[in-house]
Amino acid sequence: MKQLVFLFGTLAFAQGISIGTFLNCGNTTACGTQFYPPHTAPTGASSRIVGGREANPHSWPWMVLLRYRTSTLSCGGTLIRTCTDELVVITAAQCVEGSLAADWQIDVGVHSRSANELNQKAYQVSEIHVHENYSASYLLSDIALLRLSTPIEENADVTPICVTSLPIEDFYGKNCVVTGWGTTMESGSLADRLKEVYKPILPNSECLTNIGGAFNPDHMTCAGYLEGGKGACQGDQGGPLACFNSQGKYDLIGIVSWGFGCAREGFPAVYANVHKYLDWIATHASS
Ligand SMILES: *[C@@H]1O[C@H](CO)[C@@H](O)[C@H](O)[C@H]1NC(C)=O
Ligand SMILES: *[C@@H]1O[C@H](CO)[C@@H](O)[C@H](O)[C@H]1NC(C)=O
Repeated sequence: MKQLVFLFGTLAFAQGISIGTFLNCGNTTACGTQFYPPHTAPTGASSRIVGGREANPHSWPWMVLLRYRTSTLSCGGTLIRTCTDELVVITAAQCVEGSLAADWQIDVGVHSRSANELNQKAYQVSEIHVHENYSASYLLSDIALLRLSTPIEENADVTPICVTSLPIEDFYGKNCVVTGWGTTMESGSLADRLKEVYKPILPNSECLTNIGGAFNPDHMTCAGYLEGGKGACQGDQGGPLACFNSQGKYDLIGIVSWGFGCAREGFPAVYANVHKYLDWIATHASS
């Protein structure tokens, strides 16, 4: 009996580590808030602008730029805080799979890619963790975690986002924001300044209806307008889909993964569903 109680206690503790304790380490004062406020979220028809609009500079301080060797932009990424108070980067597996950490650099504190900004700083990647079950063919488990060779300095332009234990269903219909420097039109050029696009999170049933069998609800979530007109493009992969929560902070809900073209009619964009990988993140954030 004693042993049973002990076993139960151990399981509860393990659960606490992976879900409860890991999430921002119980410290929600230290994530998901901005020094520079973002633009007010657009509503209704006014939000349907192709490619979105320029973000208020540094209003998304968890947004980072991933650069491979000498390229100017390869993917987006998001800063989160681990329980050992380390900032790490969450990105898409498709961005970094099969590459060497030494070939990657991340830039933090960036708004304009061409300017040299006050808190802009480059860090070398020391470790790449690609999800073990990542499938390049089906884009399943499209998540990776990067650790940096030196600790990331936090300031007004560099802050982590929160991670939530709430499932995706709690965000259905919410207007959430995708940020990136990706191309604003199919085969267009990269944006110099960070852009934001607001999109509603769609229920899995609507994603399946509109996207078809390639949408796997065990791994993915989708967001956007069924009429098309807005979406993530090349160079946006790995970046955040962030939702404002009831505590007045932003949570990382999705990772930009794929779509058909940028924003074609009837095809909402698809994101890795971060909620499905909380245990995986907890494991790799501290090893
Ligand atoms: C939470 O984080 C903030 C900012 O880093 C820090 O000042 C504060 O002491 C932390 N609180 C706890 C309970 O760890
Ligand atoms: C990978 O997939 C296998 C088979 O479905 C599963 O047992 C395992 O838990 C998965 N690994 C992770 C890290 O999710």
